Amino acid sequence: MHFFELKDGVLHAEGVSLETIAEQVGTPTYVYSAGTLRRHYGLMRDACDAHKGALGEALIAFAVKANSNLSVLKVLGAMGCGADTVSEGEIRRALKAGIPASKIIFSGVGKTDAELAFAIQQGVRQINVESSTELQRLIAVVKSLKQDPTVSGRVANPDVAIRVNPKIGAGGHAKITTGGAGDKFGVPVEEALDLYAVASSSEHVNPVGLACHIGSQITDLTPLENAFKVIRGMTETLREQGHTVTRLDLGGGLGVPYYGETNTPPPADYIAMVAGVLDGLNVEAAFEPGRLMAANAGVLLSRVVHVNERTDGRRFLVLDAAMNDLMRPALYEAFHDVKPVRPVDGAALPHDIVGPVCETGDTFARDRELAPLKADDLVVFMSAGAYGAVMGSEYNTRPMAAEVLVDGGRWAVIKPRPTYEDILSREPIAEWL
Ligand code: LLP
Repeated sequence: MHFFELKDGVLHAEGVSLETIAEQVGTPTYVYSAGTLRRHYGLMRDACDAHKGALGEALIAFAVKANSNLSVLKVLGAMGCGADTVSEGEIRRALKAGIPASKIIFSGVGKTDAELAFAIQQGVRQINVESSTELQRLIAVVKSLKQDPTVSGRVANPDVAIRVNPKIGAGGHAKITTGGAGDKFGVPVEEALDLYAVASSSEHVNPVGLACHIGSQITDLTPLENAFKVIRGMTETLREQGHTVTRLDLGGGLGVPYYGETNTPPPADYIAMVAGVLDGLNVEAAFEPGRLMAANAGVLLSRVVHVNERTDGRRFLVLDAAMNDLMRPALYEAFHDVKPVRPVDGAALPHDIVGPVCETGDTFARDRELAPLKADDLVVFMSAGAYGAVMGSEYNTRPMAAEVLVDGGRWAVIKPRPTYEDILSREPIAEWL
């Protein structure tokens, strides 16, 4: 559910007309609803709190990669949400938004030594180790920090979780499946058990648990449940071997409705399933939802440049938003509902919805049925709050979309559109040219 609704014939984000935002900020612009973000966090929080027996004081750590805008992070952080991060940049964002290091998880297959050192010095909650080479490097980094006279204060051993690849992949597209046997993420079960032992015997890291994330936009709980059963079995094995396992990080991945699908499991069902799998294990769970929190909390607002009605019968709706603003259709053939901001009467016609970028990949939808639109009309791409703005680029030297946060009747620009001067001044011309 979200708070983008028609009021007096005009689409609003909460209490604010999208026409007002388009007039004052221009287009293309991402518009986020703080109320929707809070609602999604609240659903997850309530579901976790209803299963404290099985999940402990579960941490909900928003996957910052889905939407890293500082104001978005601040809305969630203020509710107690933590952050799942995959780079030093994301850790810095989470900290700047007021999320304490004690709620920041650091994941990713290619953390550099410098990033590991930064995370350790910030005292993040947990580093999810994805390979034996990474574990060795992490141990070496901790050791060298301890020996470095320029590092002030005591360097604490980082808590680590070993990321398991359970050979169960799932997700809405091959490019966003992460748990499959051949995927680059995590280590297979046997190796993970061995790595845990290596970590336990090190004087420089503190193994606390296991982590797992098998894919994104998952609409069937079965593969998730099977993966979590693997994690449960491993926890029991590790304990039998004498290891301490107190935390399980179950990743993100839950799918959301993009076009009114009814098959996406409600967060409460998902959490109840997890609680069933972990029952009696006495661990503290962590979740890393990204899409679930942010997708339906954002839209991309765009204006029609013109309608190209070709003599061959195709009708192209040419927008001022393009693949550089919203990559998902080009990259994953993803579906985003397109709605007029001011719905008009008229029989629906098939439209090819495209941007101005010079490649055919810059096609958002083919033969989409829409009531006829004309130049200067406003439209929105729904469900664009996750993996939208963050994946944007300046391809074709198109200024990145602005971002706006709406909160009830209030709104603010939370990322201005760069000017052409901003863009050009970022590139010093080599002095010998
Ligand atoms: N945790 C880890 C370790 C992840 O790799 C991801 C997403 C998440 C959590 C959050 O997953 P979510 O709850 O959002 O499904 N750009 C793609 C999605 C890539 C997801 C990558 N990993 C898209 O636009 O569909």
